[in-house]
Amino acid sequence: MNVFILGGTGAVGWHAVRALRQHGHTVTALARSPEKAAKLTALGVLPVSLSMFDRAAMTAAFQGYDAIINLATSIPPTSKFMQPDAWSANTRIRTEGSAAVVDAALAAGVPRVVQESVCMIYPDAGAAWVSEEAIPDRFPMALPNLAAEANAQRFTGQGRIGVILRFGWFYGPGATHSEEFLRLARWGVCIQMGAPNGYVSSIHMADAGTATEAALRAPAGIYNIVDNEPLMKKHFAAAIAAAAGRSWYLRLPGRTALLLGDRSTSLTRSLRVSNQRFRTATGWEPQFPSAREGWAAMTIT
Ligand SMILES: NC(=O)c1ccc[n+]([C@@H]2O[C@H](COP(=O)([O-])OP(=O)(O)OC[C@H]3O[C@@H](n4cnc5c(N)ncnc54)[C@H](OP(=O)(O)O)[C@@H]3O)[C@@H](O)[C@H]2O)c1
Repeated sequence: MNVFILGGTGAVGWHAVRALRQHGHTVTALARSPEKAAKLTALGVLPVSLSMFDRAAMTAAFQGYDAIINLATSIPPTSKFMQPDAWSANTRIRTEGSAAVVDAALAAGVPRVVQESVCMIYPDAGAAWVSEEAIPDRFPMALPNLAAEANAQRFTGQGRIGVILRFGWFYGPGATHSEEFLRLARWGVCIQMGAPNGYVSSIHMADAGTATEAALRAPAGIYNIVDNEPLMKKHFAAAIAAAAGRSWYLRLPGRTALLLGDRSTSLTRSLRVSNQRFRTATGWEPQFPSAREGWAAMTIT
């Protein structure tokens, strides 16, 4: 396929670009700096400079493509995670940006749009499995993701193929937050948000990349992109500690994180999310079936 990707220069994006190239796709990517343009070129990708808020520029640029993939995002660093203002760039990307991308793809006659979302928008389900049929929770931090999803659904409503990927908690090399977690674990501190028996549905960055490529074969719809086996938070923390080579550790902030209410709710709730629909639709299989294997494969200095 002839694919145009936005966000192809991010932590997930580089994995997605490599997966797309490995599957023989012709890839064009948004490049926002000469350095990233050079890196894309080295991977056999055509770099293009434009604004994702400029409908006219994107309509011109999207002509002749089979699919647009939108992985653009701007998640704040951990130190600013709890500050609502730190999320404004991400909110604009998910709301105005995704709307402009869909409008331009419609105007350019592109048949398929793949839009990134997250599965932390589901309500806490305890130990029950969560499928795409669960109704998302409309808490404030979920609204930009739901706006992006609504744009992709609007694309499907116009007779095209809108594919929404609800990614789990990203981890792996290049995921800044998980690299920080691993470094802390070396000092005996393990980050665990919420109840120890609650579930975390994660996805290794490399598997997020191959899933993005597989989304080019998926029928229109919403798909959870998570590991085959979500782990209980206590087991997820133990996997980090094992990767860090520690036999003991202090777990922080644990249930205390619940006191932060809405601002941390995406990370404290128990989400045992199923990826069955996507695997059935596309044949995709994650390289790391659970975070146990994924963390074990991760080394960092
Ligand atoms: N979902 C989760 O689980 C979660 C939760 C918390 C934290 N995180 C963290 O978030 C990161 C996730 O990786 P990611 O690939 O989604 O994020 P990322 O590495 O920050 O990449 C973001 C991508 O979007 C592009 N972008 C940013 N602003 C843009 C704009 N205004 N217009 C167009 N493109 C724009 C970036 O371009 P440039 O390269 O030009 O900047 C880059 O390609 C990881 O570091 C992870 O640790 C994830």
